[in-house]
Amino acid sequence: MRTYLVTGGAGFIGSNYIHYMFKKYGDDIRIINVDVLTYAGNLENLKDVADKPNYTFIKADIRDRAAIEKIFAENDIDRVVHFAAESHVDRSIENPEVFVETNVLGTLVMLNAAKKSWELPEGGFKEGKKFLHVSTDEVYGSLDNDPDAYFYETTPYDPHSPYSASKASSDFLVKAYMDTYKFPANITNCSNNYGPYQFPEKLIPLMINNALSGKKLPVYGDGKNVRDWLYVEDHAKGIDMVQEQGNLFETYNIGGHNEKQNIEIIHIILDTLLELLPESDPRRGNVSEQLITYVTDRKGHDRRYAIAPDKIKAEVGWYPETMFAEGIKKTIAWYLENEDWMANVTSGDYQKYYEDMYKNR
Ligand code: NAD
Ligand code: TYD
Repeated sequence: MRTYLVTGGAGFIGSNYIHYMFKKYGDDIRIINVDVLTYAGNLENLKDVADKPNYTFIKADIRDRAAIEKIFAENDIDRVVHFAAESHVDRSIENPEVFVETNVLGTLVMLNAAKKSWELPEGGFKEGKKFLHVSTDEVYGSLDNDPDAYFYETTPYDPHSPYSASKASSDFLVKAYMDTYKFPANITNCSNNYGPYQFPEKLIPLMINNALSGKKLPVYGDGKNVRDWLYVEDHAKGIDMVQEQGNLFETYNIGGHNEKQNIEIIHIILDTLLELLPESDPRRGNVSEQLITYVTDRKGHDRRYAIAPDKIKAEVGWYPETMFAEGIKKTIAWYLENEDWMANVTSGDYQKYYEDMYKNR
C-alpha cells in the first residue's frame, strides 16, 4: 500500500486533494496529513475522513526539522505532496516574514527530510519515491499588455508580491535539489483555484460571504484584473496525474483556460446567488449589486495571470474538466449548505483581520 505524506492537508486545496484521493483510491492508499493548523487550517474540512483507518493527522510545523524527520523515520513514505504554505497575497504585503519562514525554510526542511530518508548508501534514491511541490503561476509575474500572451513552463520567473517571491524561492530550492542530487520530484504551478472549503480571505468566498450578509463587496482598483480560475477538484486530479504519469524532474503548469476579470466574477456570484436562493430565504434580500464598492488597489497588484496548459495535456493527458458555470454553481451551493462552516471560520480572529485589512481601503 502506497503511503502519502500530505503537508497542509487541512487547508483549502489540501483537504480537497485528500477527499479526491480517497474517492479515487479508497483503501488502497494511506494518507498522513501534517498540518500545524494556522488560521487557514481547519480539521472540520476533513471530518468525514477523520475516522478512516488509512488516514492519520499529525499536528506539526514543517519548519520543525525534528518533528518532520520523526515522521519520515516512523513511516515508509512513498509520496510527498507538499501544499503547506502561507497563501494569501494581501497578508504577505502586511507581514512578509512568515511567508519566507514557512514557504522557503519549511520547504527546505521537507526536502532535506525526504532526501535523508530516501537516500541509498551507495548513492541515488530508493526506487519509486516521489516528491511533488505545489506552487503557483504567480511566480511568473504579470501579463500586463498582450492579451494573447500566456504563462508557459519556460516563462522566466518574475515574482512581484512577497507571497510569489517566497513561492518562487521554494520552487528554485526544489529545482536545485533535482539538479544537484537528482532528487525525485516534480513542481506544479497552478492558476487560481475555487471550490468548497476556501477561506473567505480569497476573492470568491469573501464575496459570497459578504453578499449573503449584506456587507460591501470590496473591489480592488478598477476590478479589471484577470485571474484564470480552476475548479479545485480538477487541480487535485492534475497533481495526482503529474505524480503518477508525468515525467520526473519536470515542471507542469496547471490552468483552467478560464480567464475572468474580478468584476465579472462578482456579477456571476450575485446572479448565481439569486438563482439558487429560494424566495423564502432571508439572506436573499441582502444580495444586491448596490454592495459593489470600488476600494484602494492592492499594492503591486498583478494585472493578469493566464496559463496555457499545453504541456500537461500533451505529456500527462490532463485538461480542465469543470466548466466555470458548473463549478461556480457547485461552489456557491456548497457555501449555502455549509453556513456553519462559514460561521465557524469567520468567528474570532477573522473579524479583526477583516477590520485591519479593509479599514484604510
Ligand atoms: P491554505 O492557506 O488554504 O492552506 C494552507 C495550509 O497549510 C493550512 O492548512 C495551514 O494550516 C497549513 N500550514 C501553514 N503553515 C504551516 C506550517 N508552518 N507547517 C504546517 N502546516 C502549515 O492554502 P491553499 O489555498 O490550500 O494552497 C495550498 C498550496 O497551493 C500552497 O502552497 C499555495 O501556494 C498553492 N496554490 C494555491 C492556489 C490557490 O488558488 N489557492 C493556486 C496555486 C497554488
Ligand atoms: P485573491 O483571491 O486574493 O487571489 P490572488 O491575489 O492570489 O490572485 O484575489 C483574486 C483577485 O481578486 C485579485 O486580483 C485581487 C482581487 N480582490 C479584490 O478585488 N477584492 C478582495 O477583497 C480580494 C480578497 C481580492
